[in-house]
Amino acid sequence: MTVVLETVPAARRWVRAERSAGQTVGFVPTMGAFHEGHLSLFRRARVRCARVVVSVFVNPLQFGPGEDFERYPRDFSRDSALAQQEGVDVIFHPDTKEMYPEPQAITVDPGTLGKPLCGRSRPGHFAGVATVVAKLLNTLQPDRVFFGQKDAQQAVIIERMIQELGFPVEMEVCPTVREPDGLAMSSRNAYLNPEERGRATVLYRSLCHAATLIRSGILDAARIEREMREMIGAVPGAILDYASVVDRHTLESVSTIDREVLVAVAVRFGKTRLIDNLIAGPGT
Ligand code: PAJ
Repeated sequence: MTVVLETVPAARRWVRAERSAGQTVGFVPTMGAFHEGHLSLFRRARVRCARVVVSVFVNPLQFGPGEDFERYPRDFSRDSALAQQEGVDVIFHPDTKEMYPEPQAITVDPGTLGKPLCGRSRPGHFAGVATVVAKLLNTLQPDRVFFGQKDAQQAVIIERMIQELGFPVEMEVCPTVREPDGLAMSSRNAYLNPEERGRATVLYRSLCHAATLIRSGILDAARIEREMREMIGAVPGAILDYASVVDRHTLESVSTIDREVLVAVAVRFGKTRLIDNLIAGPGT
């Protein structure tokens, strides 16, 4: 049976009891609306740890004004059924008052890592993410925490936060799960109409094109970005946010691809903003 805990003390007590009994506890933070991407993290946590805790919390702090906080998909009974099927032991499901009893005065600033890529069009987003993840880690105190490569910038920032602020937790980043046509799974895919859904494959196609160029020895990042932009620009209704080649750890632009890079794209279809990425490098 999956147990649902709604308060900070109850969740903390549960993890503490399991760990004192010698069980390792894995934690997967989510905003719910589960899809195969989330389920892959639960399965990985199940393999690595004796107990699995999943949080479901749509974190207001990481949504900007005019973003989709209100309409973000929420279906807790479906999520609980899926968690149960996957053998999740506990769902931590706090409400906003439980996570933010007072307006949050102290936040975690991801510094320059929060500025490029998604940070450009979503100022404050990664501070919101880092702050809620810090609170969740302090609340639960798990042995391991699991994130998806799908949100590459988030994974880089949380990894650095864990390292630099000394959170006693091991982090694991798991591969992006895709639809059969390559579209990365995302709760936001549900916003797409059938036409947009068809066109949305351009994100992955542009990434594959970039990877092919790099593999064939074209190491000029500006040229790769240009070709990706052209490919995306040719799709009706696709509005480019960015198509960038950056250092996979610092997220700084590179000019020559002489090391492993993060190739990342963000594209809007109507009001829906989609992101995707892959890691590439000379000889990979
Ligand atoms: P959410 O978008 O629900 O994602 C929860 C976790 O699932 C994240 O680590 C994300 O990278 C991973 N994920 C999403 N789509 C995936 C896919 N297609 N393949 C593999 N993993 C995927 O990310 C958040 O929530 C929030 O920012 C959160 C970290 C919970 C903080 O509020």
